[in-house]
Amino acid sequence: MQISALPGAGAEITGVDVRQMTGPEFDRIRAAYAEHGVIFFRDQSLSEDDHIAFARRFGPININRFFQAHERYPEIALVLKEKEQKTNIGGGWHTDHSYDAEPAMGSVLVARQLPDEGGDTWFASMYTAYETLDAATKKEIAGLRAVHSAKHIFGSGNDNFYKANRDTDGRIGNTAAADVLDDVVHPVVITHPLSGTKALYVNPAFTVRIAGYSDEASNALLMRLYAHAMNPAHAHRFKWKPGSVAFWDNRSTWHWAMNDYHGERRLMHRITIEGCALN
Ligand code: SIN
Repeated sequence: MQISALPGAGAEITGVDVRQMTGPEFDRIRAAYAEHGVIFFRDQSLSEDDHIAFARRFGPININRFFQAHERYPEIALVLKEKEQKTNIGGGWHTDHSYDAEPAMGSVLVARQLPDEGGDTWFASMYTAYETLDAATKKEIAGLRAVHSAKHIFGSGNDNFYKANRDTDGRIGNTAAADVLDDVVHPVVITHPLSGTKALYVNPAFTVRIAGYSDEASNALLMRLYAHAMNPAHAHRFKWKPGSVAFWDNRSTWHWAMNDYHGERRLMHRITIEGCALN
């Protein structure tokens, strides 16, 4: 088994069939995941049961509250765009579940149906984003906390993101679960629970403000941090092929699904693994 770091973010792991990971292979894969934030496999042939078994080796599965589920496997969330639909799921920089008190550890995404062209996913390293901040900004954000919310994305308000995009009806739902979810606060800089490395932990989708800051000061700081974190030098654009699997960590990466394949169907199966409180 070989682990090769990719430019920008992540690592590709070759020479392993993830259905049959040995104990030592599992340990190396878990260490690579902690170090690189996202790992990619090619040429896998995972059934739904194999996908679930792989994810379960890393932790308990989180049943998604908002995504359409696989009709026979509730553990599998569908990330789907039909050929006549215009809005994709995850079409902007974000990290999943930061609106939870214990954000999910990460997700294992398996390609099931791909467009002929396009539908790549960008991944950005929040280890690198933090590491490359200037010393003054690192000092400024040390000890700050930020508020995260799901309401403006998944809630029932008419201007909420998916509600306003009616062609996600059926794919994204359960607005009531977002409406009752309390906003949560996490550190702006976390110490990653697996690697012990510092990571920037704010994101453009779910972070709504810096705690204790005025709106103006909060927006100014968040925009500055986002502009820095979006630097393509901190990111890798992953081109999906049949048999590709991506396994990302929500605490140390952002991702962004490109929406450049109108007229074609794209179906991905996503399993999310439970995480822990962040410090
Ligand atoms: C997501 O989970 O945000 C979707 C990622 C993708 O479809 O590539």
